[in-house]
Amino acid sequence: MVRGVAILFVIALCAPPLWAGSLSLSRQEQLAHLITQDCGSCHGLNLTGGLGRAITPEALKGRTVEGLQTIVLDGIPGTAMPSWRPLLSETEAKWIAAYLLEVNE
Ligand code: HEC
Repeated sequence: MVRGVAILFVIALCAPPLWAGSLSLSRQEQLAHLITQDCGSCHGLNLTGGLGRAITPEALKGRTVEGLQTIVLDGIPGTAMPSWRPLLSETEAKWIAAYLLEVNE
């Protein structure tokens, strides 16, 4: 389990787009659009914070793909951060988590 997380983390650091190979290119484009439009509506268009806090790579330093995937899928109860489970598969949430950790780098 811990090893799996570590491996995912290393892969995410090295090549986020590659390890989400099961997602089509057009779906990846849709997800990138969703991150800007939907996540951006709360976290700011540049993800530097708004209603929700900044989710730039700097702000998320030290976080794991798996940890962020869980936040995206389940939201943060008691806050405005919604659960995206109805809209996104686990693979898609993982892709978004990897995207967040890498974007702007
Ligand atoms: C309706 C507003 C809203 C939307 C839409 C939204 N978020 Fe959030 N998000 C929040 C808020 C508010 C928080 C901070 C909750 C808290 O205070 O802990 C948060 C927290 C987070 C965190 C945790 C940040 C940290 O430092 O722990 C991540 C990661 C995140 N959001 C990612 C996303 C992603 C990815 C999307 C789009 C799929 C998204 N959010 C869409 C409101 C939103």
